[in-house]
Amino acid sequence: MIRTFAKDVEEGLSAKNKSLPSRYFYDEAGDRLFVEIMKMPEYYLTDCELEIFNYQTKSLIDSFGMNGEHFRVVELGAGDGLKVIHLLRSLNGCNFTYAPIDISQNALTHLKNRLLSEIPSLDFDGKQGEYFDVLDALGEVEKKVILFLGSNIGNLTDSRAHNFMLKISQSMNVHDKLLIGFDLKKDPDIIELAYDDPHGFTREFNLNLLRRINRELEGDFEVEKFAHVPEYDPNKGIALSYLESLEEQVVEIKAIGKSFEFYRGERIHTEISRKYDLRIINKIAKDTRLRIVKKFYDSRRYFVDVLFEKE
Ligand code: AVJ
Repeated sequence: MIRTFAKDVEEGLSAKNKSLPSRYFYDEAGDRLFVEIMKMPEYYLTDCELEIFNYQTKSLIDSFGMNGEHFRVVELGAGDGLKVIHLLRSLNGCNFTYAPIDISQNALTHLKNRLLSEIPSLDFDGKQGEYFDVLDALGEVEKKVILFLGSNIGNLTDSRAHNFMLKISQSMNVHDKLLIGFDLKKDPDIIELAYDDPHGFTREFNLNLLRRINRELEGDFEVEKFAHVPEYDPNKGIALSYLESLEEQVVEIKAIGKSFEFYRGERIHTEISRKYDLRIINKIAKDTRLRIVKKFYDSRRYFVDVLFEKE
C-alpha cells in the first residue's frame, strides 16, 4: 500500500492513542521553522555538530581513508545543507562527488543552488528518491561515505533505527564508511529547553502539523485550541512531543471525509527524539554488523558523530 499524508493522518487520528508521523513536519513552512530552531542557542545539537566539523575536519577526513581515490559523499536527509557545508568546504581538493538523496526534488534544487553559490567547484549529483532505492542503485562502482547527520536517527524508535542501519549496512561495501550524528544523554534540563524553547519556534513547528492538515487536507483545526507539550523521560532517554487539546472539540478533515473527536486534555503524539549513550550505539552497531572506526565528540560531550565501517 502506498503511504500518503491523508492515509497516515486518518490512521493516526483514528487510533485509540492518537498520533501523527513526525516526517510530515517538513513542508515549506516546517522547513523554515526548523532552520530557525537550528539557529537557537537552546537547540545545542546543531552547534555541537558544527563544532565537530569545524575543529576535527582533518581527523574526520583522514578517517574516511579514501587516499586520493574518487568517492561519493552520499547524504541522507540533507535539509538546507547547513551542517554539511563546512565538511564539503574542507573536502575541497579531495576527489569526490556530493550526492544527497531526498524524496523532494524541490529540496534538492534549493540545496544545489545554495551549495553551488558557496562552493562553485562542488561536483553536485543529487538523487531524487527513497533512501534505500537510491543506495541500492549505487552498487559497488565507487567508494562512498554515507552521512546521516543531526541526530535525525533519533526520530526513529529503536527497532526502526535497527532496521534502518541494517539496510544501510547491507548496501555498504568493505571500503565504504558511514557517519551518523547521535545526540547524547545529558542533564535533562538542557534537553527540555531544546524542545521547549522560549522563542516559541518549536511550538510553531509542532503546531504546523495541524496547519498543514488544514492547508493540504481541508481540515478545520483551530490551532489555538491545542498546546505544544514536550516531555523528556530521563530514564528512557527519550524526548516526546505532543499536541494537547485544550477543550472538547470535533475537527473535520474534508479530504479524508471524516470528523475526529478530541476530549479536553487528549494528546496527539507527534515526535520522539531518542537520546543515546554508548551502550545503545555499540549494541546497534553489533546487531547490524557494523564496526565503530572512530568517535568524534564536541567539547561538552553533548553529541557524537560516529564513523562506522562494515564488520
Ligand atoms: C531533525 C529530528 C533531529 O528531533 O531534534 C527539533 C527535530 N523536533 N525540535 C530533533 C526537532 C523538535 C530534530 N531532528
